[in-house]
Amino acid sequence: MIVASTADEIRKQVREWRVSGLTVALVPTMGALHEGHLSLVRTASKVADKVVVSIFVNPTQFGPNEDFDRYPRTFDADLQQLSNLQCDAIYAPTASQMYKPGFQTSVELAHLPQHLCGLGRPVHFGGVALVVSKLFIACEPDFAVFGEKDFQQVRVIEQMVSDLDFAVKIVRSPTVREPDGLALSSRNRYLSQEQRAAAPVLYETLVSMAKSIEAGASDPKALIEHGIKLISAKGMEVEYLSIVDPIDLEDVELVTGPVRILVAARLGATRLIDNIAA
Ligand code: PAJ
Repeated sequence: MIVASTADEIRKQVREWRVSGLTVALVPTMGALHEGHLSLVRTASKVADKVVVSIFVNPTQFGPNEDFDRYPRTFDADLQQLSNLQCDAIYAPTASQMYKPGFQTSVELAHLPQHLCGLGRPVHFGGVALVVSKLFIACEPDFAVFGEKDFQQVRVIEQMVSDLDFAVKIVRSPTVREPDGLALSSRNRYLSQEQRAAAPVLYETLVSMAKSIEAGASDPKALIEHGIKLISAKGMEVEYLSIVDPIDLEDVELVTGPVRILVAARLGATRLIDNIAA
């Protein structure tokens, strides 16, 4: 397993593979790897010959009052976990390599970030679009794998790839959950025992809303009001609970076709998100 710390190093390696006819899949991560990340690596090794995992806690996607400083950094354990899978190279640049002094370029999308997580985290998706563009330019992958856990993020990346003609195919990988339904997240480790016990209500609520829709419910307002009650009853503060069009992420006024139900809620200082198709 090669560990590259500069864009030139990883590009040289990927170009060698591609010249010999091999395809390459990139799995972008911020480290603190768990089974959710590892499932993306497994998906990557199914779609391509070689797998590159990037590990970079990207400062530009965190707002000033967010958890950039306390975000878990577990590089050695991450390498250990990846060594048990098909991971052919790791790209782990430092912040000063990624953003050289005087850096001034941005990548912004006009509409998708104006919904859901983007409202409470105004700089987030610009930072994600910027760093993922840089990762694509450094790694030149044929495929890049993203988790549906961060549904708005996948949509932002898909739109950006289409808008900017990146020659990469985006592959979606399903959300990995704990046995009680809680979506795996690097932030779950912040939860106290009591908070951890309350957290599965997010997924339970999404599932019950999806079932109601399947049974014919079509008024988003009534479904959302009921869902917020269920989540609040467990002591969580709902930031949003929305039923949206799965492409443009606009709220739907009536459920008449496929939708996505997404939620963000706080348990103490910890912000959790989840989503489901319906
Ligand atoms: P990070 O939060 O480390 O997540 C890396 C990838 O793992 C993302 O595609 C995310 O959707 C996926 N993932 C996280 N939890 C998952 C779960 N329970 N099941 C399936 N996939 C899961 O997302 C980021 O990093 C960053 O924004 C990044 C794209 C790397 C840009 O900095």
